[in-house]
Amino acid sequence: MVEADRMRVSVIGTGYLGATTAACLAELGFEVLGLDVDEAKIEMLRSGRVPFFEPGLAPLVASGLESGRLRFTTSFAEAAEFADLHLICVGTPQKDESGAADLSYVNSAVDRLAPHLTRPSVVVGRSTVPVGTAATLAARLAALAPAGAEAELGWSPEFLREGFGVEDTLRPNRIVLGTDSPRVEKAVRALWHRQVDEGIPFLVTDLQTAELVKVAANAFLATKISFINAMAEVSEVAGADVIQLAEALSFDDRIGGKFLGPGLGFGGGCLPKDIRAFMARADELGVEPALSFLREVDAINQRRRARTIDIARQLIGGGFAGSRVAVLGAAFKPNSDDIRDSPALDVAATIASLGAQVTVYDPAALERAREAHPELNYADSMRGAVADADVVLLLTEWAEFREADPEELGGLVARRRIVDGRNALDPTFWRASGWTYRALGRQ
Ligand code: UGA
Repeated sequence: MVEADRMRVSVIGTGYLGATTAACLAELGFEVLGLDVDEAKIEMLRSGRVPFFEPGLAPLVASGLESGRLRFTTSFAEAAEFADLHLICVGTPQKDESGAADLSYVNSAVDRLAPHLTRPSVVVGRSTVPVGTAATLAARLAALAPAGAEAELGWSPEFLREGFGVEDTLRPNRIVLGTDSPRVEKAVRALWHRQVDEGIPFLVTDLQTAELVKVAANAFLATKISFINAMAEVSEVAGADVIQLAEALSFDDRIGGKFLGPGLGFGGGCLPKDIRAFMARADELGVEPALSFLREVDAINQRRRARTIDIARQLIGGGFAGSRVAVLGAAFKPNSDDIRDSPALDVAATIASLGAQVTVYDPAALERAREAHPELNYADSMRGAVADADVVLLLTEWAEFREADPEELGGLVARRRIVDGRNALDPTFWRASGWTYRALGRQ
């Protein structure tokens, strides 16, 4: 064990990012105290239960608790007493129609921690924030902390994908740190010394660049998805096949095949709100035209939802009133129970509002979906959802749906009609079983 491994770290916020960060740091050998203002969440974590679906996380929480290296609290005083390095991992949801980020949780984390920082401390933000936030918070921290300027703030954005949070934390593709303080840099390098030794790039920038790296990365990913979905729109009317198009593009390694998957488009707690917050910030900075293309990226993404509904309507031959629609998938992507801005649920709710009886099944997100959309029907299996359906919509590409047997499902539905909203199925295979198969961007 090297000296750095005895470092004690507090992790403020125990949602997807914070709980994953805390458990992974304990796994790496650090002493970690996770903090949240939500008592119920802390109680769950203390008893080894993870309040959301994240493959591989529960065993890490359990082993962290067992080793004594991972503990949880609701007390900022305790966190300040325990650690000299504090990671802010709270959420920054979309505020309102303006699209701007709600910074109240980040502000409150700094405001509540700072008064307890009586000795030199390092605070590092991991949350996604609008450019300029960290500089304001650094000043606020120094003003509120008894340690004054010895309480220093850096920003180190995270790039975790839900469903791969553990892997992305333990083996990130890069570590970015915004700071001009040698003490902040030393603390963050100590935290990731194994990863740096393995050759993972460690980039030190100013605060603003670090904040921008995160939102720029998400804006790029969203743009790439919307680009191929715009090609899907064109393909549909031009008689082309967007799957073949995407494949052909992917062999150019300047383009690459990742995030070039055409379909229902992006949702979740990150890409949609991050591009909107980025546009709102550009507006505030007086450079609105620089990001006006993101408005189109958002619009293309929303149009895919409308198009999916249109295809289903065509398949059932007119209006939805009185029809039975099966929706496979509620989470915003597979291997997640997250339904924030879920394209699947958005489509399901719209079709229900048009008069159809919609029955939804999802392997992990049923409980959350039921809470958010009590007006929909839910089945606890794929078979249950498709029973007597006039049309089936595959809207989240869980492995269970990809591997479904068209013959078996065909025996359960009222009519063999499927809309593959994620281009997840083999059309030839499904058509061979007598299904009318439709997908986005294909004939
Ligand atoms: C995203 C980024 O990928 C992470 O790098 C980032 O750290 C994270 O946001 C964040 O800001 O915290 P995540 O929201 O977990 O991660 O989900 P993604 O895997 O990026 O998928 C986003 C959406 O795009 C999903 O709805 C997915 O179905 C959709 N998607 C993805 C497509 O429609 N097509 C594709 O080819 C790829």
